[in-house]
Amino acid sequence: MCGIIGYVGDQSALDISLQGLRRLEYRGYDSSGIAVVGAGELRTARRAGKLANLEKLLAENPEPDPMPGTTGMGHTRWATHGGPTDVNAHPHIDCTGAIAVIHNGIIENFALLRAELEAGGHELASETDTEVVAHLLEVELAGDPDPDPDPAAVSHPLAAALRRVCRRLAGAFTLVVVHRDFPEVVVGARRNSPLVVGLGEGESFLASDVSAFIAHTREAMEIGQDQVVEARRDGVIVTDFEGRPVQNRRYHVDWDASAAEKGGYPYFMLKEINEQPTALADTLRGRLSPQGAIVLDEERLSAQDFRDVDKVFIVACGTAYHAGLIAKYAIEHWTRLPCEVEMASEFRYRDPVLDRSTLVIAISQSGETLDTLMAVKHAREQKARVLAICNTNGSTIPRESDAVLYTHCGPEVGVASTKTFLGQVAACLLVGLYLAQVRGVLYGDEVAAYVERLQRMPELVERTLGRLEPIRELARELVDAKAVLFLGRHVGYPVALEGALKLKELAYMHAEGFPAGELKHGPIALIEPGLPVLVVVPSPRGRANLHDKIVSNIQEVRARGARTIVIAEDGDVAVEPYADHVIRVPETTSLFAPLVTTLPLQVFACELALARGLDVDQPRNLAKSVTVE
Ligand code: M6R
Repeated sequence: MCGIIGYVGDQSALDISLQGLRRLEYRGYDSSGIAVVGAGELRTARRAGKLANLEKLLAENPEPDPMPGTTGMGHTRWATHGGPTDVNAHPHIDCTGAIAVIHNGIIENFALLRAELEAGGHELASETDTEVVAHLLEVELAGDPDPDPDPAAVSHPLAAALRRVCRRLAGAFTLVVVHRDFPEVVVGARRNSPLVVGLGEGESFLASDVSAFIAHTREAMEIGQDQVVEARRDGVIVTDFEGRPVQNRRYHVDWDASAAEKGGYPYFMLKEINEQPTALADTLRGRLSPQGAIVLDEERLSAQDFRDVDKVFIVACGTAYHAGLIAKYAIEHWTRLPCEVEMASEFRYRDPVLDRSTLVIAISQSGETLDTLMAVKHAREQKARVLAICNTNGSTIPRESDAVLYTHCGPEVGVASTKTFLGQVAACLLVGLYLAQVRGVLYGDEVAAYVERLQRMPELVERTLGRLEPIRELARELVDAKAVLFLGRHVGYPVALEGALKLKELAYMHAEGFPAGELKHGPIALIEPGLPVLVVVPSPRGRANLHDKIVSNIQEVRARGARTIVIAEDGDVAVEPYADHVIRVPETTSLFAPLVTTLPLQVFACELALARGLDVDQPRNLAKSVTVE
């Protein structure tokens, strides 16, 4: 939820931290701050609001280098405990002013710890849960040396102190710490929140994600659950919270800094919408064989494991949940296996019935969404097998799952998911077809026919993007609309939900998605003259009668004065008499239609928000990755 960068090396820690924060700001933008250690001093700077406010503060400093030093860290915050004020901005320091701490997550037992510290004479300045860590470190460093059980562990005192503090913390946290008297080291720790290491030449980085240091090194290392990392110029030492050394996976990041830049677009979101043909092609690449079969050999479940499945659960949040709803239609149709889709935040609180023949598919772009992570843990405790669909290499959810299918969409910086939604839908379709293939419920030639059509989808996405000017114009016209309804049937229903979510989060408008058939059971009361209603129409060649039924639904709302905006495939003339506007998409297989019908809705929300003068990359109150429950 917050963005974190730590650095030790030979470059200016201030410059590195600012650069990193610019790339991490999508994770939270309520406040930002930096701490730098140099010349025997610890200097901090922090400001409420976007990073620009901190940059302004630094620019106003008359000193040529306001924060000299080559060891430091930066933080961009999504507020949980304590409002988005200067005082609550990170870093937080201890009573001596020697220790600075930044944090992502929630320390659940902070009230107890705070009371204990205050009783011991510590003065805490902020309302945050984070500040207790700085003071606990102060206590630890002033006290006895680390009673580490493993005498072989060679540790810096700051790392040893952080381990002792972590053992007292409950909740989720990534912590990064610097100390005035220890410029040789930056120390980090993690539990249930992300932390990766960047391994450079004579420099090391700690960050929430690799985009923060990708301009400096593409060599990365995962940090596992309940581990402490001590980063120095010449490398890192990682231990668990007890001080036992651990060896973590190193990996090479296969995209470069330009992928995390705007590339000439005014907003990341616009760039990411236009990257969808490539994102989709990259996700399908290598997974469709020339013989027309699905090849999923990179994940860690065997074909037999998939044959043993008798039920599928999908858990996810937000946009990823909508991808899961689409998957349900495909999986049940192709495999005849029951498939339930559940919001991850609800899953473990209602005793879902799972066992070792249940396949749980956890969908998450970031791989760090805590609600989804907790659902994964719950599923594995019940012995279910978990397959993650994820876009972020090295993230937590894939690590905590039995298997992973990566979407290869590249970094997504805009807070609203766009290209990764398409990647998630594609990955779900691959899993559905693979299940049908290995279980023999579809004939080989049926799978081959789907494979052939899937291969054409990136080109159809490209064509769809090329013809969306009419929906842009319409969005600008509707800039003052008070609300918008989205209707769909079959896989068009989750697309309608996704269209409504995009409009809510980007344009701050009241927007609802409904199954069109459900309208007459209540929501039709919302229709009033002029209300824009977007309808995602299924192909007339799809499920028998479904198309006719939605045409009736369009008539019903139009008869009550709604302004109907109809997303229909080429050649579907039956909708025309009842549509105030028709947005055309190319013909596709029914189950693949979301890969094209979603695009006009993304563009509609983006354009309407821009027409309202809003920042589509950083909508208010949101953060890209939700690492708190
Ligand atoms: O990283 P995840 O896919 O797990 O994120 C899940 C949701 O938080 C995310 O899809 C959110 O709904 C997006 N901002 C929607 O655009």
